[in-house]
Amino acid sequence: MMQTRLLPATSEGIHDAVALLRAGGLVAMPTETVYGLAGDARNDRAVAAIFAAKNRPTFNPLIVHLPDLAAVAQYAVLTPEAARLAAAFWPGPLTMVLPLRDDAALSPLVTAGLTTVAIRVPAHPLAQRLLAEFDGPLAAPSANPSGRVSPTRADHVLAGLSGRIAAVLDGGACAVGVESTILALDGQPALLRPGGVPVEAIEAVLGAALALPNDPATPKAPGQLASHYAPEARVRLNVPVPQPGEIFVGFGPGAADLSLSPDGDLTEAAANLFHLLRAADALAGPGGSIAFAPVPETGLGRAINDRLRRAAAPRP
Ligand code: TXA
Ligand code: MG
Repeated sequence: MMQTRLLPATSEGIHDAVALLRAGGLVAMPTETVYGLAGDARNDRAVAAIFAAKNRPTFNPLIVHLPDLAAVAQYAVLTPEAARLAAAFWPGPLTMVLPLRDDAALSPLVTAGLTTVAIRVPAHPLAQRLLAEFDGPLAAPSANPSGRVSPTRADHVLAGLSGRIAAVLDGGACAVGVESTILALDGQPALLRPGGVPVEAIEAVLGAALALPNDPATPKAPGQLASHYAPEARVRLNVPVPQPGEIFVGFGPGAADLSLSPDGDLTEAAANLFHLLRAADALAGPGGSIAFAPVPETGLGRAINDRLRRAAAPRP
């Protein structure tokens, strides 16, 4: 087992993170969505180590993180719709699945052999500084063991991956709190995963409706398994009144053990979601149960409900 270092959000911390990444090591980096487990996307050994550290199936491809649009052109073909979405939402919590360039210098493990590549330009200032100083593509899935709750704080990363990765760059709590929205843009624009950019905002830029995940025309993201974000406790959704002994997570006014947002604010609820899921799990204890109040299915509520449905899904 290796000793996982906690690196501060300073020039020195970034410098140390870059040195570890250049040597093929793995560093968890803060992004505005969740912490990502970063490794050099050109280095087969580093990418293989990402899959091993997370215990992630190797058929599930990784997102490539880049500093800006200029870098994207080295790896992917920017379709006209993608260019418009990039202008509107990058840097930010949007991932686009684009045709992979034949000459893209990426480990084939990153794309799991597909002819497309998922690309994101994150906005978090530490991710930006890390990418600029590293000066290359960083493959980064969420920094949690596969199937578990995504991390939105450095201590969440350590709770799941301590001893399995070289370092965590500590950027405090993630502002958005749910993962990026993923769009397929290698054909008709389709939503693969709701996330930090609301579907309504994307449709406004495209001037057209997106194909949604339950649409038979929408390709499946290989990693979108039904059960995910699994806490130890049982999870029930859309509960108006909890049963005795249940940990009740509220949304909006009313009595609750914990609250996603007392004011019923979806942005606040998204930012709190994964931390509250962990806190509720600890309160519920082994064999316990967590009940969530209803959350509206609009804006960021789609991403919140998607994650809650996966947390509540039957486990394999
Ligand atoms: O906010 C986020 O997106 C975070 C931060 C770290 O950037 N990353 C993240 O990565 O959530 P991950 O690996 O947990 O989820 C990425 C999803 C997976 O479901 C994967 O199957 C899908 O993206 N994906 C990656 N490449 C793809 C491709 N070429 N085609 C379709 N889906 C792809
Ligand atoms: Mg993930």
